[in-house]
Amino acid sequence: MNQFVSGVWRYCFGSAEDASPVRFFGGGAARLEDAGSVSLPFGYKDITVRFTRRGSVVELPMKNDENFYGFGLQFFSLNHAGRRRFMKVNSDPSADTGESHAPIPFYVSTAGYGVLVDTFRYVTFYLGTNGAKGSSKVFAKPMKAHREFSEQSLYALKQAHNERRVLIEIPNCEGADLYFFEGPSMLDVVCRYNLFSGGGCIPPLWALGNWYRLYGGADQNFTLQLAETFRRQGIPFDVIGLEPGWQSHSYSCTYQWNAFLFPEPDDLLHQLRRQNYHVNLWEHVFIHPHAELYAKLENRSGDYEVWGGLVPDLADKKTRELFGGYHRDHFVDNGISGFKIDECDNSDFNPSSWSFPELSSFPSGLDGEQMHSALGLLYQKTIEQAFRDRGIRTMGQVRSSWALAAKSPFVLYSDLYDHRQFIRALVNSGFSGLLWSPEVRSCEDAEDLIRRLQSVVFSSQSLLNCWRIPNPPWFQTDLAKNLAGEKMNGSDAVTAIVKKFLELRMKLIPYFYAAFWRYHLEGRPPVRALALDYENDGLTHTIDDQYMFGDSLLVAPVFRGQTSREVFLPAGEWYDFWTHERLSGGKTIVCKTDLEILPVFIKSGVIFPLAEPVLCVKEDTVFDLTVFCFGGGEKRFTLYEDDGLSLAHEEGKYNTLVLTQDGNGSVSAVRTGTEPPRYVVREWNGIDCGVLS
Ligand code: GAL
Repeated sequence: MNQFVSGVWRYCFGSAEDASPVRFFGGGAARLEDAGSVSLPFGYKDITVRFTRRGSVVELPMKNDENFYGFGLQFFSLNHAGRRRFMKVNSDPSADTGESHAPIPFYVSTAGYGVLVDTFRYVTFYLGTNGAKGSSKVFAKPMKAHREFSEQSLYALKQAHNERRVLIEIPNCEGADLYFFEGPSMLDVVCRYNLFSGGGCIPPLWALGNWYRLYGGADQNFTLQLAETFRRQGIPFDVIGLEPGWQSHSYSCTYQWNAFLFPEPDDLLHQLRRQNYHVNLWEHVFIHPHAELYAKLENRSGDYEVWGGLVPDLADKKTRELFGGYHRDHFVDNGISGFKIDECDNSDFNPSSWSFPELSSFPSGLDGEQMHSALGLLYQKTIEQAFRDRGIRTMGQVRSSWALAAKSPFVLYSDLYDHRQFIRALVNSGFSGLLWSPEVRSCEDAEDLIRRLQSVVFSSQSLLNCWRIPNPPWFQTDLAKNLAGEKMNGSDAVTAIVKKFLELRMKLIPYFYAAFWRYHLEGRPPVRALALDYENDGLTHTIDDQYMFGDSLLVAPVFRGQTSREVFLPAGEWYDFWTHERLSGGKTIVCKTDLEILPVFIKSGVIFPLAEPVLCVKEDTVFDLTVFCFGGGEKRFTLYEDDGLSLAHEEGKYNTLVLTQDGNGSVSAVRTGTEPPRYVVREWNGIDCGVLS
C-alpha cells in the first residue's frame, strides 16, 4: 500500500473524467479501500454514491456539531456548516452562494479531516442542510399550536433529525475521485493538502516588498517620473505594474507594446532596472486578431470569442508551450519579472456575461464549464513555466484559481472592494492553499487609505492597485479630484504614515520569507485563521477579522470609522507589537486604535527578527536584523537564505540560519549551508526572557 503523502486517501467511484485537478496539477494517493485503519471519523462503507440524470451524487456522514472551513476564496462566511456551497468561478461574488474568483471544492472539518472533490465541474455541497426523508420523524415532538405568530418562529431551522449528511452533487459526469486528508488537527489537514499540491510556493524575495500598479493611461515618461519620485522621496517599492495601456490593444490582447504610449520599451525597462524596480505587466488570455499569437493558436482555441479574441486551449500542452514560449521570448528575456493575469474568471452577474459560454468546446475535449474552473490555474502554470524555462522565479497576480494551487506563485485579487469582506477572504484563503491580497485602490478618505494599507502590509502581497488614479492615493484619495490633479488637505501627513507602513513591510521581509519556506516545506500557510493555530479554543472558530501572519504575529485590522476594536487573544501571554507591553490571553481585550496603530500582537515564547528597512530588495541586499526574544523558555526561529531569485533552492542551494535561545538565556545564530549570507544579526533584544548572553 502506497501513500503519496502520509494520510491522504483516494476514493474512486464511477468513471472519472480525464480532466481533473489531480490529473492536471499533480497529487496522487492510495485508495481508501486499502486503507485499513485510516484515522478518519468514518470509513469507506459510510460513503454512498449514486448517479442521476444530472450527474453524480455522493453522501458523506456528518456530526451534528461538525463545522466546515475552506471552499476557497470566500468573502461572506467562515464556517460553512448548514450552508449550500456552489463551486462556480464568478468574478462578481456579490452574495454568499459559494461562488467566487477561486471556489475550491475542498473543505476542512473540525472532526479532523478534509475532503477534495477532484473535478472541474460546478460542484454543489449541501453541508447538513437537509436530512434524508423520514429522518426527522422519530425526533419530531408532539405538535403544539402556537398562540402568537412571529416570523422568527415560523422559519427557525429545527434540527430535529440528528442524521445530518453532506450531500455533494457533481453535475455532468459519471463519476469522480474524492481525496480524504487526515488530521488530527485542521492545521494538519491543511498542511497535507498543501503538500499534496506540491508544497506552497516560495516567492522571489523582491516580491515580498511593496507593489505599485500605475494608472492605466500612463505613458513611458509618466511611468519613469513616478518611479523616480518614489526613489527620491524614499518611499519603498519593489515592483512597478503596468496596466492595460502598455499594450497596442488590450481587450482583447495583442501582447505588444503600445507604440504611442511606450515608444521605447527597452529603454524604459533599462531605466527601471537601473533603479532596481521589477516590472509586472497586465494582460488577459484572450488573443486579439492582430496579435502575433493569433495565427499560431487559431486552431488551438475554443469555438467562441471573448472581446473579439481567441480563447486559447491551455489544457493542451502544445498550446501552453506556444503561449508561454511567446511570453518567455518577448518578455522574460527582456527583463519582465511577472504578469498580472486578469479576467480569467467568469461573470453571471455582469449583464454582458463577458466570458465564453459554458457550451463552448475546446480541442483538448474540455467543455466551457470545465474550462471556466481550470483556466485560472492553467494560465498561472503556463506563465510560471515561461520563467522556469529561464531558471528564475516569478510572482504575479491572478483573478481566478482552483484546487491544488498552493505551489503556484500567484496572488488573487478582486474588483470588489469591501474592506471587511477583504479581511474575511484573507482569513479564509489559508484553508485552501490560496494567497490573497486585500489591495488598496482609491479610497473614501485618508482614514480609509491608511486602514486598508495597514492590512495590505500584513498580507501575502503588499499591493497598491492605482490603475484608475494618475496620482498616488496619499496625494488625493478622491477619484475625481485625483484625476483632476488636486492635492488633498493633509496629504503630507498622510504620506508620512503611508511611508511608515510601507517601511514596516520591508522590516518584515526576512520573517515573512521564512513563513513562505514553511509553506513550501511543511505546507503551513503563511497567513492563517486563528482556528488553525488555536483549534482547541472553540472561541477562535468564528473569528473572521483577525489572523496569524507568519509564525508568531496576530493581526487585528481596523476598519474606517472604528476608534477602538475588540481583539481576542488566545490563551497564553502576548506582547503588544508597538509597545512590547505584556498582555494575558484567553480573553477579549479592547484596543484603542489611533490612526497610526494597527493592533498586532506577538506570541510569548518566540524569537522574532525585524530588519532595518531598505528601499527595495536588490540581488545583493543583506538585511541587518534586530532579533527579539519574547517571554521565557527555550525558543528557536529558522531563517532561510538563498539568492531569492532562481530555482537553485530546489537543488538544495540555500542556508538555514537558526536563531535560538536556551533555558539559561544564551542566544545563538547558527548558519548551515554555503550560500552567501542574506542576514546579519546586529542586535539581540530580550523582553521578559531573562538575561541575554
Ligand atoms: C480589471 C482588474 C483591475 C484593472 C482593470 C484594468 O479587470 O480587476 O485591477 O486591472 O481590469 O482594465
